[in-house]
Amino acid sequence: MLDGRTLYDPKWYQIMIDELREARRLAGWSQRTLADRLGVDAQAIKRLEKGIGSVSTLISAMTALDFQLTGLGSGRSLPQQLRARRQKRSMSLDTLARKTGLSRTTIASLEQGGGSVASLLRLLSVLAPRVRRRAPERAYWGQGDKEDRDSRFTPPEFMEGIYAAFGPIDLDPCANTLSPVIARRRIILSEGGDGLTDDWSGRLAFVNPPFSALLVWLRRAHEQWRAGMVETVVCLVPVRTDSAWFHDTLSADAAIYLLKGRVRFLDTTGRAQATPFSLMLVTLGATAEQKERYAQLVQGFWLSRTAETQGEQDQPMPRLTY
Ligand SMILES: C[S@@+](CC[C@H](N)C(=O)[O-])C[C@H]1O[C@@H](n2cnc3c(N)ncnc32)[C@H](O)[C@@H]1O
Repeated sequence: MLDGRTLYDPKWYQIMIDELREARRLAGWSQRTLADRLGVDAQAIKRLEKGIGSVSTLISAMTALDFQLTGLGSGRSLPQQLRARRQKRSMSLDTLARKTGLSRTTIASLEQGGGSVASLLRLLSVLAPRVRRRAPERAYWGQGDKEDRDSRFTPPEFMEGIYAAFGPIDLDPCANTLSPVIARRRIILSEGGDGLTDDWSGRLAFVNPPFSALLVWLRRAHEQWRAGMVETVVCLVPVRTDSAWFHDTLSADAAIYLLKGRVRFLDTTGRAQATPFSLMLVTLGATAEQKERYAQLVQGFWLSRTAETQGEQDQPMPRLTY
């Protein structure tokens, strides 16, 4: 059995566990909230944050928190990256087993997404001593209170273009009582709603999400749209395109409009402030007419695809790889 004292080099414990806990706190999520989102018991998150639990729970938590590692091999998922790293270092399973004190079977299981967090940490300390959390790209308002940063509301003049081109909004899944966005149904966190777990509904959803959890919301929008819960989704988000998921999955399904100029969002006091970053619309299920009307009304352009990329779009829908 692995001994806790020799198992963890404190540095590794910190990288994988303390930073994950910090990422959860920064997202403003309690252990219970994260547990609910992953569909696991709150105890599982408590244990995870002590370095105990399964790699599959860890991977789900990493995905939900947009927590990625750098310093591993290439690959979309952590197990693939572990395998790629071992192969890059020309290590056989036997060699790695000898160096880590783990069994060959345990390492093979970790490379399949199985095994325990303790084994994973031990493996990483030998296989990738320079592994670090990949810094999330900054596309938010700046320093300061997170709740304040995320409480920026879409101004009515910007919404006019959305209503005129896309029609009335059925759902705002991240609404706020202070927001001027007009929607038939509004999911409001302070009233017990949760746009990340409540089912979406209606024809058109408009999503101006908390930018500090941008990818989490885009994934949710994509998932609900793919599940047929809403016909069309229009997301107003920072131009943040660095993730593999954006390139490999979202961009294949979305039509993207790059906005010229900056939107002046309203804060909780009604004061207007322009974003310190560029914005885009990420739309899912928008019709050619809606897109044309929007381009006539609002300055910017729809990203076009090359014939080659378009060909890829015509292939069967990609599997969801969250
Ligand atoms: C950038 S504001 C946008 C509000 C509104 N959609 C608009 O466009 O004016 C994002 C809002 O999402 C809310 N929010 C954060 N997490 C949420 C969740 N899990 N479910 C629903 N709303 C959430 C925050 O309270 C914040 O008011």
